Amino acid sequence: MSSRPKILVTSAAGKTGLPTTLQLLEKGYPVRAFVRRLDHRSQTLERAGAEIFVGNQYALRDMLAAMQGVQRAYQCAPTAPNGLHFNAVFIAAAHAAALEHVVTLSQWLSSRDHPSVFTREVYLADILIAMRPGMTVTTVNVGWFADNYLMVLDMAAHLGLLAMPLGEGDAKTNAPPSNDDIASVVVGALCDPARHAGKTYRPTGPELLSPNDIAAAVGKALGRRVRYRNISEKMMLKALRAHPPSNYSEAAVSQLAIYADEYRRGTFAVNAPTADVHNIGGRQPKDFETIVREAVAERPDLRPSFAR
Ligand SMILES: NC(=O)c1ccc[n+]([C@@H]2O[C@H](COP(=O)([O-])OP(=O)(O)OC[C@H]3O[C@@H](n4cnc5c(N)ncnc54)[C@H](OP(=O)(O)O)[C@@H]3O)[C@@H](O)[C@H]2O)c1
Repeated sequence: MSSRPKILVTSAAGKTGLPTTLQLLEKGYPVRAFVRRLDHRSQTLERAGAEIFVGNQYALRDMLAAMQGVQRAYQCAPTAPNGLHFNAVFIAAAHAAALEHVVTLSQWLSSRDHPSVFTREVYLADILIAMRPGMTVTTVNVGWFADNYLMVLDMAAHLGLLAMPLGEGDAKTNAPPSNDDIASVVVGALCDPARHAGKTYRPTGPELLSPNDIAAAVGKALGRRVRYRNISEKMMLKALRAHPPSNYSEAAVSQLAIYADEYRRGTFAVNAPTADVHNIGGRQPKDFETIVREAVAERPDLRPSFAR
């Protein structure tokens, strides 16, 4: 039996939960992975050595059961309506289980009066989670994930177009972090609470990129020319609703319009890039082209072929 503290990872089949679980296991920590269902992702986690817990993160009974024998946790509220409910359930259970340290996924935009109701709920959760005496907290407040651009990978592969409402093509407005690099910061903070308690980190990619840079990198990874086109939010919402990615609810799609407005105003460029992936995660952040190449490698259907 491991003498290391046991760590619960919520949303363990998700974008940041999955690499967080795998990186913790690599470091020799026992991990309980909270997933919604058994599928290929939970199989990957189980094969790597995680203990799988299937449950509903909205249910206090499930969260209490998931925290039995656990000392630390990564709390990642899914992008879904009632984010505050997810966090309230987590906090109530963390109180009962007397957790010693929690790393929570917040947002760079987290603020009291933000127009997005999702973001205001994140702000309230940031306050509530820090209120339990005896439990230390590290906050990871990420901006716009690199993963968000992959929503339009099919369109880029088939039409040579990266159509998103991100504003001027040459404005350097985001330093997008990979899911693995966000996870590395989470893992760094989970492994050393004494050093990271009470701190806030903001993982970013290595450099600020413009929408034209993003399209060019996607094109290189796909082996074809890809052009950026600035579209209206209305058009983006229509496209997402027509082919919604499986884990984006109607509510999440509607919040995207508000986040796109922040993007165009340059909010994600403020104080970016940071050195947090290097300093806390102990690695060089992945450049965007590498992130897309890795995503394309998992999608043989996107490669150019005679038939296509
Ligand atoms: N995307 C961005 O640019 C961005 C920026 C800043 C902050 N964030 C924050 O990132 C967080 C989301 O993190 P992520 O992208 O790593 O997560 P994610 O990929 O959206 O994963 C969420 C996971 O939770 C699972 N889930 C959903 N509802 C559940 C329920 N009721 N019970 C149990 N499991 C449930 C989903 O399961 P299934 O997959 O099986 O459906 C999914 O695996 C949000 O809190 C958001 O505020 C995102």
